[in-house]
Amino acid sequence: MLSKEQILEILQPLQEPQLARSLTELGWIRDIMVKEHHVALSIMTLENRPEDATALTDAARNLLAQHGVKDVHVRIRVASEHDRESLNAGQGDQAQDQDEVLVKGHAAGLDGHELLSSESGVRYIAVASGKGGVGKSTVTVNLAAALARQGKKVGLIDADIYGFSVPDMMGIEEYPVVEDGVIQPVERFGVKVMSMGFFIRENNPVIWRGPMLGRMLRQFFTDVQWGELDYMLLDLPPGTGDVALDVHQMLPQSKEIIVTTPHATAAFVAARAGAMAIQTEHELLGVIENMAYYECGSCGEKDYVFGRGGGGRLAESLHTVLLAQIPLGTPDNHPSEPDFSPSVYKAETSIGAIYDEVARNIESNF
Ligand SMILES: Nc1ncnc2c1ncn2[C@@H]1O[C@H](COP(=O)(O)OP(=O)(O)OP(=O)(O)O)[C@@H](O)[C@H]1O
Ligand SMILES: [Mg+2]
Repeated sequence: MLSKEQILEILQPLQEPQLARSLTELGWIRDIMVKEHHVALSIMTLENRPEDATALTDAARNLLAQHGVKDVHVRIRVASEHDRESLNAGQGDQAQDQDEVLVKGHAAGLDGHELLSSESGVRYIAVASGKGGVGKSTVTVNLAAALARQGKKVGLIDADIYGFSVPDMMGIEEYPVVEDGVIQPVERFGVKVMSMGFFIRENNPVIWRGPMLGRMLRQFFTDVQWGELDYMLLDLPPGTGDVALDVHQMLPQSKEIIVTTPHATAAFVAARAGAMAIQTEHELLGVIENMAYYECGSCGEKDYVFGRGGGGRLAESLHTVLLAQIPLGTPDNHPSEPDFSPSVYKAETSIGAIYDEVARNIESNF
């Protein structure tokens, strides 16, 4: 198995097409992940040109193939403002790429690049599922709120770039503001939130323009003023697609929670997401079985409407724990209340208490 240093050495001949400088020397080969015969990595380029992307991908594959690595996953990303700024003087005018995010600098707290590094001390939790609609976003927002109730500094990234739902679920009506040229996340229930939804709703074409999901996701880290954080939660899109891979590459230190319903098929599909987490060496914190049962309000009897046992079996097959079984129930909220949110259960409700318990459990076992 090759080390990251060996891979950087092997890829030394690769040049950034515009700059004609070694990508290794520029530090523009990143997120290297090696797993037996599989290598995944990101290459930064100055511009988003498909022909360059193809050529670089092929060249990287060829170089690595000469050293016996056949399975290579290359992601091409456009260099961030920060990357461009760190280039030598004289390259500066290239930075006005039209796709560029127009936000600069970081006033205080962790810089986005530090935030992504494994030394940041931030505990990352990605919430995944194999299947859509099982309650990932609900679990993410409630776990974030529960951790915040326990005095933790919590950030939440809605990594479901196209299917964003977090702002609406948390009842957020404000937009992020830009202070001193830096985007401030919106705070709700003590949780700092960033979502594509903020920008689409505002229909702001300047920020987050550009076709690459992974690149946008990275900008959620690098161009947002998160300040100090204890936890950063990521609400992933369903399945094991590109964004999930991006998160795995960008945040190898992230731990993961898998959400499933109790139904056998849902749990089986969720196992795929779990298997991917294990493959990419994301440690599993456990499984949350959502919509586990319906509890009759008057008699207290539990009705297992979506079947029974899926969460437990899934946890067992992934060699992890079942963190919670969350029953069906809507937050008892009213739109006229100032802290209205369609999906956040209050601390004093029984479901809110289950989330508090999960948050305590995570805090002591992370
Ligand atoms: N325990 C629950 N009881 C009742 N409704 C729930 C529960 N959990 C989630 N829901 C509802 O189910 C729907 C799907 O939940 P959610 O959006 O959290 O799932 P998701 O896995 O994030 O979906 P997607 O894959 O589309 O991102 C939402 O309308 C949500 O309000
Ligand atoms: Mg969702």
